[in-house]
Amino acid sequence: MKVLEAKFVKQFIRVCDNGYKKGWHERNGGNLSYRMKEEEIESVKEELNLNTEFKPIGAHVPSLKNEYFLVTGSGKYMMNVKDDPEDTICIIRVDETGDNYQICWGLVNGGRPTSELPSHLMNLEVVKLRTEGKYRIVYHCHATNIIALTFVLPLDTKVFTRELWEMATECPIVFPMGVGIVPWMVPGGEEIAIETSKLMKKYDAVIWAHHGIFCTGEDFDSTWGLIDTIEKSAEILVKVRSMANSKLQTITSENFKMLEKPFNVKLNKEVLD
Ligand code: 13P
Ligand code: ZN
Repeated sequence: MKVLEAKFVKQFIRVCDNGYKKGWHERNGGNLSYRMKEEEIESVKEELNLNTEFKPIGAHVPSLKNEYFLVTGSGKYMMNVKDDPEDTICIIRVDETGDNYQICWGLVNGGRPTSELPSHLMNLEVVKLRTEGKYRIVYHCHATNIIALTFVLPLDTKVFTRELWEMATECPIVFPMGVGIVPWMVPGGEEIAIETSKLMKKYDAVIWAHHGIFCTGEDFDSTWGLIDTIEKSAEILVKVRSMANSKLQTITSENFKMLEKPFNVKLNKEVLD
């Protein structure tokens, strides 16, 4: 099968396009990665070139050795992925040591995988181990309202999560552990990747102050849905804070606890009073 005919590739492209339409990907902002399944690798094998050179990842990911990933290219615009996937995305393979990668398909006009490859692969490694292989996706975008809140809320998991949960009843059900927060750091390297992946041991969503958000999940829909839910909640909070200095009423800790049984979720106790 041709790479572009594969279902996971179509789903990947759809997330890029939908994120662009949401306004989360100005210029080359944001990136996406997907850890391919055995049968998916097999199905597109005819198009994979394994004779390309290896380059350093900039991170050590031994638990991802010999695995294949579909990732966006560095400097590429999400706006263009749908019309020109072969130019903007690529399939890479991690080598035996977990230190290097090679490009097996895509980026036909040159280039390299996203500059956030260390963060993507370190996060994918952490969540693969945490979920016994279930989680396969890491998605990074510059969602406007989430970024705005990092200027006015303390960069504290409890406060941030609590404020986001209060903005929509479904929030604690969708992200019961809450959100992790990385303070401002230089993007694109191993240092920010290490800090983010430490938080990914616990959280499915990690906010980068004054930059954006990283989310992880089992499939494209749930990972997309997680960012969409958090950003929607952030938008409501921005509106509430623009209208008034304080809330007249809200969802209480007792209310949150009442959601646990009917929705079969365990909420992060650290966020509740
Ligand atoms: P890339 O174009 O290298 O993916 O970088 C975009 C970005 O959002 C960096 O954080
Ligand atoms: Zn970014």
